Amino acid sequence: MNILILGGGGREHALAWAIRQNPKCDRLIVAPGNAGIAGIARCASIDICSPGDVTEFAEANAVDLVVIGPEAPLAAGVSDALREAGFAVFGPSRAAAMLEASKSFTKEVCDACGAPTAAWARFTEAESARAHVAAHGAPIVVKADGLAAGKGVTVAMTEAEAVAAIDDTLGGSFGAAGASIVLEEFMAGEEASFFVLCDGETALPIGTAQDHKRVGEGDSGPNTGGMGAYSPAPVLTPAIERQVMAEIIRPTLAEMSRRSTPFQGVLYAGLMIADGRARLVEYNTRFGDPEAQVLMMRLGAQALDLIHASAEGRLAEVAVQWADDHALTVVLAARGYPGAVEKGTEIRGLDGLPETSSEVMFHAGTVEDGGRILAGGGRVLAATGRGATLAEAGRRAYALAEAVDWPEGFFRRDIGWRQLAPHRTKGET
Ligand code: AMP
Ligand code: GLY
Repeated sequence: MNILILGGGGREHALAWAIRQNPKCDRLIVAPGNAGIAGIARCASIDICSPGDVTEFAEANAVDLVVIGPEAPLAAGVSDALREAGFAVFGPSRAAAMLEASKSFTKEVCDACGAPTAAWARFTEAESARAHVAAHGAPIVVKADGLAAGKGVTVAMTEAEAVAAIDDTLGGSFGAAGASIVLEEFMAGEEASFFVLCDGETALPIGTAQDHKRVGEGDSGPNTGGMGAYSPAPVLTPAIERQVMAEIIRPTLAEMSRRSTPFQGVLYAGLMIADGRARLVEYNTRFGDPEAQVLMMRLGAQALDLIHASAEGRLAEVAVQWADDHALTVVLAARGYPGAVEKGTEIRGLDGLPETSSEVMFHAGTVEDGGRILAGGGRVLAATGRGATLAEAGRRAYALAEAVDWPEGFFRRDIGWRQLAPHRTKGET
């Protein structure tokens, strides 16, 4: 099978790494890819948000399956164009990807199917939004309705903060994504992520994870795309998983089918867990980054069979082979991230790193330049380990991270602290 993966981050390196191991994978192409992916696949430079360019490329390269990594091509309708041209595609239609692209759409779907989530209201005018804040008080959550690259959410602890976020968002800070806003009830609890493959009919859970969104140790400082993650997430007990499937995932999929926009791909549910029950925070319609790194490390080669079955509507025929293992990933980012970073700094020491089924340095934002590996963005590498325990997975991941010689980079030393650190000082490795 010839496979094309769209994207060039750590998530796509992890997908490529798992897919490459499956004997059914013949040619593997990743667009645009990165310096790490180039070691295991052909990298191609195409505009992955252009439905026409991607379809033409897939036709010219006799591609059998297209796996879409990030959300932008989904919102641009790339999966629709590919399906229309007859390709097997892993990734929802533009209409179904609204579950990530519009917060108010998701809230309407939740209301229609009774899925538990925070109470909400949508506004396009600051005055009525401010009145809502005055009536409901703080804490309260202010969200840009549209796709804002993970940055459009303010958890306001005071009314003044909420009002500032309302003015900022409706004032254009997130462009068109903030032309309307959603105000939400603040939910307390512990967050976890739940990943379910869907083919329009069948829903197959493939794993749980928890990530660390804040840039600093002890979960401090500004939000990022994710500084590390681990899988499984112990807070998502089998009983809560059953509740989530029964009350959130299956009703959502049924509602999407009822609307004639069935969901195909991976549904990534962000959950808030309190008192033994989960409520939905949000959906993403793709794998998380860096959550994919830990999921792929645990699934290995079978990831291709599962993804292929999802794309072809055959999920009812497959099962996940679960291993009783743990994975942990630590993101190495350029100094300054999530703010402005210096690009082009050299990373040394990558060549000598071990690579096994239990330790891989995934590349997230690297470029090759005459044999040197340079940093090409904010999040640059994801040191990933697997083990019989989370502590063992963490030791493997941190051994990789420590072995890299990159003075212009940094990483958090406390990934997994909720599980590992009760007996340890925050910030120690
Ligand atoms: P989102 O982009 O919707 O996932 O929001 C980003 C982060 O904001 C989430 O991961 C939560 O930590 C937080 N958040 C979002 N909505 C709520 C809510 N209703 N209550 C509490 N925290 C929230
Ligand atoms: N790590 C969060 C995300 O991919 O949305």
